[in-house]
Amino acid sequence: MRMTKQQIVQELLGQAVQHASTQQTVRCFAHANIALCKYWGKRDTQLNLPITSSLSISLGTLGSHVQLQTRPHTDRIQLNDQTLPTQHAAYRRITTFLDLFRHSNRYFFDLQLTNTIPTAAGFASSASIFAALVKALNTLFAWQLPTSKLCILARLGSGSACRSLHSGFVLWHAGNQPNGMDSTAEPLNTAWPQLRLGLLITSSQPKAISSRQAMQHTVTTSPLYNSWPQLVQHDLVCLQQAISQRDFHTLGQISQANALAMHATMLAARPSVLYWLPDSVKQIQTVQQAQQQGLPLYFTMDAGANLKLLFLQQDEQIVRQLFAQLQVVDPFVTDLQQAAT
Ligand code: DP6
Repeated sequence: MRMTKQQIVQELLGQAVQHASTQQTVRCFAHANIALCKYWGKRDTQLNLPITSSLSISLGTLGSHVQLQTRPHTDRIQLNDQTLPTQHAAYRRITTFLDLFRHSNRYFFDLQLTNTIPTAAGFASSASIFAALVKALNTLFAWQLPTSKLCILARLGSGSACRSLHSGFVLWHAGNQPNGMDSTAEPLNTAWPQLRLGLLITSSQPKAISSRQAMQHTVTTSPLYNSWPQLVQHDLVCLQQAISQRDFHTLGQISQANALAMHATMLAARPSVLYWLPDSVKQIQTVQQAQQQGLPLYFTMDAGANLKLLFLQQDEQIVRQLFAQLQVVDPFVTDLQQAAT
């Protein structure tokens, strides 16, 4: 049965005691994540229920730190030490989400968000923000919900946020229930310590169209979208096999092809959605040339102009020589004690 967001919250929290101590300040961290097989298309736009499953890798200690406490009147949100004006899109999006948890307007929130993912490079941080926020609410209100249920709550804020509640490789099951109670994320529990991700810090320009809008526009207008779900099914099988066999070549090839196929569906949308900038094309060509010379280096891209590189630890120096502005991430180092300060 289809349910509203509020009904889902009600169902998950049940009679959970909803008393937050106004004195209490809670701090939580959630990883940023990058999809290797993308979530692109919703079967329910209100509940952020995906048409297909997707698979991501979390970014270790990079992500969002949240500090949360209640306050008597109006929400106050700080993002990287800047107070967000109430008309700011991020303020409205977060407070609308918080509306689900106010319990008859008894609570307003003071929220400090710090992203350790380089925001100047235009990397999406909404996933880790909603994941960290849900963790913090769970602690503040002492819900004691298991991660599988926190995934469902985080997804109501942003689909990909459910993947940010786990580290390492994460599979978000599309599920098929209309209320999405089976659409939750699960860790694959396969460590691959040699794997590296490279974030390319290019100059950021505001996006002409949000990923949320682009996704929906692609589903409704792109003649190529019909082939996307079948392609994802294939890519998910290959990726999971590559991960279990630590087959880097297949992992890289499939991740790169999947990202390009997603962009192909957008390019074919009417009107077309093009996120690439001249620098993106140059970087793609650099990667392709390196591949032709035998370097196991691959890329993925999301709804934006930036490339995220995939390579192995042994090739880090060569990759750094190719890309001067590179932030290297070791996804399996998750020193949360240090990160959650
Ligand atoms: C291209 O999770 O940001 O990064 O559910 O509307 O909040 P909403 O979308 P969001 O979409 C992410 C799209 C993507 C691919 C991915 O991360 O899987």
